[in-house]
Amino acid sequence: MEQQPSPEKDKPEQISAVYIRLRAVIAAAHFHGIELDIRDFAAEPGEASPSPATIVRWLREQGAVAKGMRLRWQYLVKMGNTPPVVLLFRDGSAALMVRTDPEKGIVWLRDPLKGEGDHPVPVDQLRLMQVWTGDVVLIKRRRDESEGDARFDLAWFAKMVLREKRGLRDIIFSSMVLSILQLFPPLIVMQVIDRVVNYHSMATLVSLTGFVVILSVYEILLSYGRQELTLVITTRLDARISLHAFNRLLALPLEFYERQQAGEILGRFSSIFRVRDFMTGQLLNTLLDLFVLFVVMPVLFYMSPTMAWLTLAAAGGIGLIVVIMLPAVSRVAGEQIRTEMKRNATLYETVAGIRTVKTLALENPRREEWDERTADVVKWRLAAGRISNWANTMVMPLNMFINRGIILVGAYLTLTNSSSMEGGALMAFMMLGGRVASPLVSLARMMESVNEVTVSLNEAGMVLNQPTETRALTTGMRPVIKGALSFVDVDFSYPGSTTKALSSVSFDVKAGTMLGLVGRSGSGKSTITRLLQGVSRNYQGYLRLDGIDLREINLHHLRRSFGVVLQDNFLFRGTIKDNITAGRPGLTIDDVVRAARLAGAEEFIERMPAGYETWIEEGSTNISGGQRQRLAIARAVISDPKLMILDEATSALDPESEALVNENLQRIGKGRTMVIVSHRLSSLVNCDQIVVMDQGKALDIAPHSVLLERCEVYRMLWLQQNRHMPNGGMPTGPLPEGDDA
Ligand SMILES: Nc1ncnc2c1ncn2[C@@H]1O[C@H](COP(=O)(O)OP(=O)(O)OP(=O)(O)O)[C@@H](O)[C@H]1O
Ligand SMILES: [Mg+2]
Repeated sequence: MEQQPSPEKDKPEQISAVYIRLRAVIAAAHFHGIELDIRDFAAEPGEASPSPATIVRWLREQGAVAKGMRLRWQYLVKMGNTPPVVLLFRDGSAALMVRTDPEKGIVWLRDPLKGEGDHPVPVDQLRLMQVWTGDVVLIKRRRDESEGDARFDLAWFAKMVLREKRGLRDIIFSSMVLSILQLFPPLIVMQVIDRVVNYHSMATLVSLTGFVVILSVYEILLSYGRQELTLVITTRLDARISLHAFNRLLALPLEFYERQQAGEILGRFSSIFRVRDFMTGQLLNTLLDLFVLFVVMPVLFYMSPTMAWLTLAAAGGIGLIVVIMLPAVSRVAGEQIRTEMKRNATLYETVAGIRTVKTLALENPRREEWDERTADVVKWRLAAGRISNWANTMVMPLNMFINRGIILVGAYLTLTNSSSMEGGALMAFMMLGGRVASPLVSLARMMESVNEVTVSLNEAGMVLNQPTETRALTTGMRPVIKGALSFVDVDFSYPGSTTKALSSVSFDVKAGTMLGLVGRSGSGKSTITRLLQGVSRNYQGYLRLDGIDLREINLHHLRRSFGVVLQDNFLFRGTIKDNITAGRPGLTIDDVVRAARLAGAEEFIERMPAGYETWIEEGSTNISGGQRQRLAIARAVISDPKLMILDEATSALDPESEALVNENLQRIGKGRTMVIVSHRLSSLVNCDQIVVMDQGKALDIAPHSVLLERCEVYRMLWLQQNRHMPNGGMPTGPLPEGDDA
């Protein structure tokens, strides 16, 4: 963390090697049209200079394809006319290799701190090897732009699995060999019974024993290997799927979360794990076991065609039962999953809203809802269990026939002389037949699961296949922000709503000034702040930041340029220091203290038993409302944003805390554009301008004293709040009659 490059604060001669290394990466990415921001880089703790792995992780997070490699000189020099390659140097810095000449044995390097027009310097092997670690980072644009946004469906999962080519190949190979090895025990039994027992041949027994031992060793080793490989592949898939799904969740726009209940989203999201379990567990194993069929069936036909056909017929019967039962099973399984999800949503909501539940004594209604949902779950679980019990029971006779009955048929055939099978062969056939039945039965079971999985997948898709903001988050301009805002004829309605939340709102805010937003509840104040942060982007009209259309600006960049304090701010589990840095990289304790001082939080933090290391969490009781707000303000100002939004940030505070925070706001506001929404007009008196909102319209914009003169709505609001003051708080002139109604 300490090793954070912050060139803006450093003097030129102190530009760190780390900074040069990061600039090289940024330049290489820029070549491919990927714009990176050095502030997104999170150093690994304990790493003096970012390792190739850390750089690659960063690049991947930012939507690039990146690969770190260790190369020998002879390979490096053969790269020819490549896009810029990042070469990592021993001193922690890096350079860009832009061209190579294998014949002359020269590579051309460019200084990452200079522009693209700068002339590259030729370097030969001897000189390069003195500084180069041998590590390179290759960067590419993602071929398939939409990969991050690919639909979550079975095909997607299959693609994920198929990506593990090498591992899969090895697993398939070992499964095939294992299947063949499984042929031998029955054949050995056959030999033992027919030769050893019938003819008392000791020599055969000895050689068979040796054979058995060798085979067993092979089988043990191979199945160990297969299990290990499967384990590695499934855990890797696991990690990849979880990561991808969570990324998708984070890329969903806030608007989506507002439309859906959190519990429901959670339930749907976690159904992705059901799919994962299936794909990496049951599906893989069953498919692998199916190899046995291909190996065993020919042997069965060789031993006795009649009995082989009978086995096949019984196996076909199992398949038929499965197909017939399928629709019913899938319907019931789907219902079961859905009811379980609903119940989980109830659980989540109750726990998340327990404060409200307790204070309003809502325990009984919640319990009733839970009981109802549980009754549904029980009903469908019972139905699902019954139906699969039925299916299993119907399959059982056929399974038994393959496993045991077939030997009777074989014996009958031998007795009637229509077959020449001996006792040993019969035993062997029976054992092999059993091998045919088990993968088929598990295939049948799998069919049931496939339906369960389809339902889960659909549910997960309802969350994960929503349109994301990925594009806006990874593309767009990253201008240096000064903080001038302008609204031109902005119209906006919330999705699904017919009335306009904003209609033809126009106003300008100069950089570094303080804007107040007032108006009745529901007049559109928060909506304005939402548009500013790019939370809602489907507005009409123009919204400009420093003259640039807001939609052109990279969303991450935009949101990072704002410090936002709301009425109710979420505190994460962790120390006070963690809550102020909120996991943003490159912030030191000095930054934390500075932010806390600016927010007026320093004094109470230092009184806490463990100071900045005091542990707090959501719902924590060792933090009061006012302290919480000041922490939130510290969190917002620590990154020194050029713009700040305070939406009712002081509304829940007692007058004393409010006065304290307001006092700090004057200091915080220096050099920043502030947008302050407040119900208490008295806290906005010092604003450079105040916008009066009414039913989505901006009625007027002017400083307090002017508004008091000319804006009816503003005067009304002011008088309502300041009636107790002599003269209604009005600066001059008599009170208009009837205003105290
Ligand atoms: N997420 C939403 N979805 C749909 N409609 C919304 C949403 N948020 C707000 N609205 C509607 O938009 C209008 C403006 O709401 P907004 O939150 O901007 O008001 P406000 O001025 O901030 O009010 P308050 O002072 O009560 O916070 C209201 O009529 C409200 O019903
Ligand atoms: Mg509001």
